[in-house]
Amino acid sequence: MAANPGSGTKKLSGGNGGAAALLLFLLLCCTASMALTPDGEALLELKVAFNATAGQRLGSWRAADPNPCGWEGVSCSFPDLRVQSINLPYMQFGGIISPSIGRLTKLQRLALHQNSLHGPIPAEIRNCTELRAIYLRANYLQGGIPPGIGDLTHLTILDLSSNLLRGAIPATIGSLTHLRFLNLSTNFFSGEIPNVGVLGTFKSSSYVGNLELCGLPIQKGCRGTLGFPAVLPHSDPLSSSGVSPITNNNKTSHFLNGVVIGSMSTMAVALVAVLGFLWVCLLSRKKTGVNYEKMDKQTLPDGNEKPTPTMSLD
Ligand SMILES: *[C@@H]1O[C@H](CO)[C@@H](O)[C@H](O)[C@H]1NC(C)=O
Ligand SMILES: *[C@@H]1O[C@H](CO)[C@@H](O)[C@H](O)[C@H]1NC(C)=O
Ligand SMILES: *[C@@H]1O[C@H](CO)[C@@H](O)[C@H](O)[C@H]1NC(C)=O
Repeated sequence: MAANPGSGTKKLSGGNGGAAALLLFLLLCCTASMALTPDGEALLELKVAFNATAGQRLGSWRAADPNPCGWEGVSCSFPDLRVQSINLPYMQFGGIISPSIGRLTKLQRLALHQNSLHGPIPAEIRNCTELRAIYLRANYLQGGIPPGIGDLTHLTILDLSSNLLRGAIPATIGSLTHLRFLNLSTNFFSGEIPNVGVLGTFKSSSYVGNLELCGLPIQKGCRGTLGFPAVLPHSDPLSSSGVSPITNNNKTSHFLNGVVIGSMSTMAVALVAVLGFLWVCLLSRKKTGVNYEKMDKQTLPDGNEKPTPTMSLD
């Protein structure tokens, strides 16, 4: 680059150098200003991964632009022209979220909800340390929540609802002291919701429809630490030596179940015993009935029907 202006001035000293110099100047100036900012480059990689071209979307995202600040769904901070927000919901993107997102280190808002994105939430998102809001609701995102999300100290809103996400909820989310909205509903998360930090402040509405989740916020006890299937509820109270309050809770509810079922079966056994007793009585009555009847007839002149009630008092 430094050699070019030198050769230019040599040409300039020759014939009609004025025009050549102007041309060279324009060339240098324009190639310099036309180089897309690194954030813009990262966005173009995101665009390819979104598979946006398949749907003829993001036409305004052009590599020829000097910066991405006028692109659809993009806004920048000034004067440094760093990408601050990506706002592209309902765009019918069918691809993935490129790991290049990690280069947008000034990103504050990522809104890609209501698309058809699949694949994982890239772990590189932990690099976007300025993120305040992540809206990824209603996609087909797979895999787990990257634990690095716990590094996003400014995060206030995290909406990952209605995806295909699975695995445990990372305890690192509990350290996000600014988190005010969390929605992990309608996914396939499993295990115990960590009762850590800010995670203790969200109610069941943040976790709707994750059948394998358990823990205090959704008032569902977790099964034993060994993770035995929950189909043996009645063996739990017997093997109980409750550790955490949550498992205790679970044990007591199972215990209550046991008490109810136990008392019901006791009542059934008692009923059978009473019926059996009555049966035996009836049989013995048949044997000795004649005598009683005779006796009764003697004592009760008009009572052909009476004997049975009096006998049942025995
Ligand atoms: C991009 O879209 C095309 C056409 O819809 C599809 O065939 C292809 O699988 C998609 N690529 C990705 C990575 O999703
Ligand atoms: C993370 O950010 C740094 C700059 O802060 C950058 O150099 C690096 O490439 C980024 N890492 C990823 C994985 O994007
Ligand atoms: C979370 O999302 C689900 C489904 O998208 C919704 O039903 C629920 O009301 C949301 N919860 C909150 C706290 O907004």
